[in-house]
Amino acid sequence: MSTPIKDAVTMEKIVALCKRRGFIFQSSEIYGGLASTYDYGHYGVLLKSNVKAEWWRAVVQERDDVVALDAAILMHPRTWEASGLEGFTDPLVQCLGKCKRRWREDHLREAVAKGEAQAEARSAEGELHCPECGGDLSEPRNFNLMFETHMGPVQDEGSRVFLRPETAQGIFVNFKNVLQFSRKRPPFGIAQVGKSFRNEITPGNFIFRTREFEQMEIEFFVPPAEAGRWHEHWMEERMRWYTELGIRPDHLRLRAHGPDELSHYSSATSDIEYLFPMGFSELEGIANRGDFDLTQHAQYSREKLEYVDSASGDRYVPHVIEPSAGADRGTLAFMVDAYDEEEVEGRERVVLRLHPRLAPVKVAVLPLVNKDGQPELARDLYQDLRRRMPAEYDAGGSIGKRYRRQDEIGTPWGVTVDHQTVEDGTVTLRDRDSLEQTRLRIGEVGGELARRLGAEWRSPKLG
Ligand code: GAP
Repeated sequence: MSTPIKDAVTMEKIVALCKRRGFIFQSSEIYGGLASTYDYGHYGVLLKSNVKAEWWRAVVQERDDVVALDAAILMHPRTWEASGLEGFTDPLVQCLGKCKRRWREDHLREAVAKGEAQAEARSAEGELHCPECGGDLSEPRNFNLMFETHMGPVQDEGSRVFLRPETAQGIFVNFKNVLQFSRKRPPFGIAQVGKSFRNEITPGNFIFRTREFEQMEIEFFVPPAEAGRWHEHWMEERMRWYTELGIRPDHLRLRAHGPDELSHYSSATSDIEYLFPMGFSELEGIANRGDFDLTQHAQYSREKLEYVDSASGDRYVPHVIEPSAGADRGTLAFMVDAYDEEEVEGRERVVLRLHPRLAPVKVAVLPLVNKDGQPELARDLYQDLRRRMPAEYDAGGSIGKRYRRQDEIGTPWGVTVDHQTVEDGTVTLRDRDSLEQTRLRIGEVGGELARRLGAEWRSPKLG
């Protein structure tokens, strides 16, 4: 019998689990850590790469109209002039009262608009005050978010380059190359995954907002008249992706930006928001960028960035729909949604009910005792299974402790080799979520797991 412990998840518990099980560590920890910067350990690397692999599968492998790109992080400085990002700034305000904390003015206004209690209580008659101590705030100051560095041995204005603050611009500047060599015509898209850097004023909430992060972006080029329809299409597709990978639908919502929230390039943007422990917050943005980017880059580079229909001779600048997701933020959302605590036979267990396709390890092979031929049989099975899927062999400690460890890293299946295996060649297969144990022949395990991995999976939290 298992009894769920309701609403158990907090950010503190996720951070502690990540450290305890080697998913994510504070960066440069031995030197006291570098603020809001994180390193991924073994299970974190496997989990985040599964998130990215599922994204590639959904947006490229299972479609005919999107191709892949991997552009450089360092780009020609003109890129940033054309993109409008050279002045990529956030409005910074500082508390003039007791606590001296810095805030993003737009975030404070957003919190007041959403009626968030703390911010509301601190702001009287439209004037913002510090949500921490209620002090007055300074006038907003524009704070440049782009990290700069220098290329080559001489550090002068001419050698200045920037670390990209989004992967999108690498796609726009390659539009012509891809159009020529991919044999695509609008509507078609270019997908890219890679690191971006922003000198955020208020990073925080673990890997939710950091200064170095990974994005998964698509720029989808369409005939202008079809932009509205494709915007709708991508909102549906991206919502579906998260729920198919196990996020509970009532923990997701789409929120359209108000006119004063829209970025300089966008005529319409909707955010997919997830119910993180700190409340509904942006997980992914889906913007209609119109022809802004191609027009700007055409003007600054003097290259024609348009589509010419060879049959009709029609030419136009495609409009762009941009689904832009965060790989780290997505990983955090999948972990938060999967986190569960329950009581099983009087003992508490923490379990990550990750979708099997996202789980870092798919199966653990465990000999019940470390003797009587069991370890040898278990190792043979493990050698066989790991050729097909990520597997672990674990012979250390009590079986209960080993199961608990696998539950915490989200391993969906455990195979136990026991005295009966030695006698009749059968093993038990334990299911992480239902705790059901089935007995099957050792030679059938691989096929059974491959079948389960390919089968539809529904979060057990949906009931
Ligand atoms: N090209 C459009 C663009 O970059 P954005 O809303 O600024 O749009 C898209 O970023 C996504 O990238 C966000 O929804 C989020 O998932 C992720 N992201 C943005 N800034 C981030 C940060 N500082 N830390 C972690 N993820 C971030």
